[in-house]
Amino acid sequence: MKKLLYVANWKMNVTPEQTSAFYHDNYDELYELSDNADIVLCPSFVSLGLLSPFLRNTEISLGAQNCSEHISGAFTGEVDATSLEQLGCSFCIIGHSERRTLFNETNEVIASKMQRLLEQQITPIICVGETDEQRKQQKTQEVVASQLHSILSLLKAYNNAIVIAYEPVWAIGTGNIPTIEELNSMFNWLKQHVTNQVPHISVRYLYGGSIQPTNIKKLKDISILDGFLIGNASSDFQTFKNIVI
Ligand code: PGA
Repeated sequence: MKKLLYVANWKMNVTPEQTSAFYHDNYDELYELSDNADIVLCPSFVSLGLLSPFLRNTEISLGAQNCSEHISGAFTGEVDATSLEQLGCSFCIIGHSERRTLFNETNEVIASKMQRLLEQQITPIICVGETDEQRKQQKTQEVVASQLHSILSLLKAYNNAIVIAYEPVWAIGTGNIPTIEELNSMFNWLKQHVTNQVPHISVRYLYGGSIQPTNIKKLKDISILDGFLIGNASSDFQTFKNIVI
């Protein structure tokens, strides 16, 4: 059976003190979980350096929630991919819908961020997904294809593995999730679309949006999925554990 990937996106919900407590109160169980699952913890930038020494040389990976599209320079408040690599990040989320809508990130900027990550051998977790309005207009595939356009063009020149997380905007933090049929059909299309353009790239496909211990069982039955991106439910260890096991 394939090992599923579970990415914990703590957003801006977990302080350094809470990050430390999450690790120190639960590390035995956390390592136990990683026997059967690939786990990536994505705290905020300020907690990366805190978790990093504990996770180095373990089966649990460290991930960032964002990175700059620039290599270095006068970009006050930004964090570059080289620094993330030095801190021990092996994954980084890019293109999350909160970044796209609240911080006006374009598909081109997200593609540049991916390039910075690939140069540092950090695996990008590329988020895509349609709004409720786009879904109602039956534009889901069109929207996701346009979100991936620059990304896939760029990937033609690389061999790095990537992760794509399909997170419908209307499912994030709302308690609503697509039906199993909708997800099967979406991921079949997505996989084919990506494979047609970059057949040489290894891709893991994740679903994200309102994942909870109560709905994970049926999501795990979707065999085309390689794992999950979990937001709010991932910052409480017991809830996260009940999703992973
Ligand atoms: P949620 O968030 O699990 O809280 O819906 C998912 C995400 O934003 O990655």
